[in-house]
Amino acid sequence: MTWSPKIELHLHLEGGAPSALIRKMAAEKGVDQVGLFDAAGAYAYEDFPGFLAAYEVATQVLREPEDYERLTRAVLEQSAAHGVIYTEAFLSPDFCGGRDVGAWRDYLAAIEAGAAQVPGIEMRGVVTAIRHFGPEKALETARCAVETAGDFVTGFGLAGNEGLLHPRDFAPAFDMAHEAGLGLTAHAGEFGGPESVRAVLDDLRVTRIGHGVRAIEDPALVRRLAEEGIVLEVNPGSNVALGVYADIASHPIETLRERGVKVTVSTDDPPFFHTDMDAEYAALARAFAWDDATFREINRNAAEAAFCDAATRRMLL
Ligand code: ADE
Ligand code: ZN
Repeated sequence: MTWSPKIELHLHLEGGAPSALIRKMAAEKGVDQVGLFDAAGAYAYEDFPGFLAAYEVATQVLREPEDYERLTRAVLEQSAAHGVIYTEAFLSPDFCGGRDVGAWRDYLAAIEAGAAQVPGIEMRGVVTAIRHFGPEKALETARCAVETAGDFVTGFGLAGNEGLLHPRDFAPAFDMAHEAGLGLTAHAGEFGGPESVRAVLDDLRVTRIGHGVRAIEDPALVRRLAEEGIVLEVNPGSNVALGVYADIASHPIETLRERGVKVTVSTDDPPFFHTDMDAEYAALARAFAWDDATFREINRNAAEAAFCDAATRRMLL
């Protein structure tokens, strides 16, 4: 089955690195990544903390701006091969020059150069702080975002371990990004419950939420999401791979949609979760009988919520 063109709002750039690329770069640089791969050469980890640790080990071979150019090209080639025409990638100054604005500019230029080499797909960057690295580093990350905000860097986000610290700790970073006109999104309601989703809405003023699916546990919160038009960046395959839900059929995406919440579909960290956008669409079609009209609705939600300029949005709608 071939679906209509896909819009992806939630993709971590390093998390999209094909395991073969990371293995190749490790061999070229003589880096030992014991335990990162299983016997078949895929990423190996046990649980969510293990996944976050594996993610950081994989990024250790991504050292120079040229590595990021190569990474971006590889990631977007995969996305384009699965019918994605527009993607928003979470970019991490933490891994790109240690949040130094000058170094960040060099990495960003390399990422843009890589993106320009892949035909058929547009990319925007959402500069993202990592929650478990703490609020001070988040503020430096926000500074990188604000200094480079423009046609390519259009958003600011928060990822990482939702169980640590509180969204209010990150409010100064989000306020700074908001003032610079950046779109705002934060991971919540993946491993945290409804209170975690409420906190990012109240404290960070986000218009989109990364995951947000555990809002389903609180009907009043689901009504609020629907009424306020908050868009969820849902990653069904990621949630199953990390054990949030047993399988796609048990995933709340369809119930959220039925209750009027604007849901979208993304892959999060596709090689880590053995997924891609075609696999996500096929699984949703199988589990919930989603047809082309449903996917068009999902992609309309994504186009309306994309952190892009009006001309690009018109092209996506
Ligand atoms: N960073 C990369 N993938 C993530 C996820 N699924 N949740 C939180 N932080 C992440
Ligand atoms: Zn994510």
